[in-house]
Amino acid sequence: MSTSDILKIAVIGGDGTGPEVAAEGVKVLNAVAKLEGIKVQTQDFDYGAKRYLKTKEVLPAGAIDELRTFDAILLGAVGTNDVPPGILERGLLLKLRFDLEQYINLRPVKLYPGVETPLEGRGPEDIDFVVVRENIEDLYAGVGGHLNKGTPDEVAIQTAVYTRKGCERCIRWAFEYTRKRNKRKFLALVAKTNVLTFGHDLWERTFNEVAKEYPDVKTDYNHVDACCMWMIKNPEYYDVIVTTNMFGDIITDLGGIVQGGMGVAAGANLNPEPGGTSMFEPMGGSAPKWTGTHQINPIAAISAVAMLLEHTGHEKAGQRVLHAIQQVTGTKMKSQAAGEMGYTTQQVGDLVCEAL
Ligand code: IPM
Ligand code: MN
Repeated sequence: MSTSDILKIAVIGGDGTGPEVAAEGVKVLNAVAKLEGIKVQTQDFDYGAKRYLKTKEVLPAGAIDELRTFDAILLGAVGTNDVPPGILERGLLLKLRFDLEQYINLRPVKLYPGVETPLEGRGPEDIDFVVVRENIEDLYAGVGGHLNKGTPDEVAIQTAVYTRKGCERCIRWAFEYTRKRNKRKFLALVAKTNVLTFGHDLWERTFNEVAKEYPDVKTDYNHVDACCMWMIKNPEYYDVIVTTNMFGDIITDLGGIVQGGMGVAAGANLNPEPGGTSMFEPMGGSAPKWTGTHQINPIAAISAVAMLLEHTGHEKAGQRVLHAIQQVTGTKMKSQAAGEMGYTTQQVGDLVCEAL
């Protein structure tokens, strides 16, 4: 992280529609920075499928150390059909999360005004919770292997790794966040203790121990399968959820659709330690079929910018962006679906700038 008073942002537009939505995010970032008197400097990085296909390496040597010198990273999306699955995910997205120790993945599930949810009869007052997903352990650790690969006797092992340190810092952060959010001060642990009797036992014991330090925060435990039902049936029940990496991945896609789809859902990969570099991203993918059509929804990327501001010490600017987004979804946009917004990608970015 830089120590100057300039907010230094690395922009990785990535593939497909990634650069288009990231550009709208940067547009809004610059606009709000001007209004709030924040000095911001952005630098583009060409990491993604194109560079990989040309150079055969996903990240050049020194890339991580260079990114560490930024206050934050704004990521568009990575992945195309010409690169086999896993290469860019592991080599870029997960590598950044792991090497920059972004151990929190914060994913708000918030229904903005005017946005349609598939949950009938539900409005913004019912759908407003946050998932705190542990971001660098679990099945994502990459521990495992094949035996007798390609033979009828093949064995594949993929190990879920949980550490006391890893779950405790995530759980502790979630308690602090719940307290600070100050909505209902209610934190639910979502796991699967009835089956994952080692790893999730560690999570549950740690959760219960840390809970004693936060008597003002109400707690509950939900199995992940039940959580999926509650998210649909009673979304208003949740305030903050803390969960493991794999389950967090799955339930936040469910959350994404509950809040109106990938056009609006954003997340933050946080390294909360002093000087840590965090990364902010729209949750949707690179949407190859929409590339260059100017029809993709940039609201998720702009929401990522709101989170970026909030988590780099510019809360007021972040709130300002969030309000502007809600004005645009509530009074201007016809839909949040690509091709149905009633505006182009760039026009939606302009509308948010005007609403600032
Ligand atoms: C996400 C994505 C990633 C994940 C993939 C692309 C590796 O699904 O950010 O949720 O599984 O974490
Ligand atoms: Mn996911």
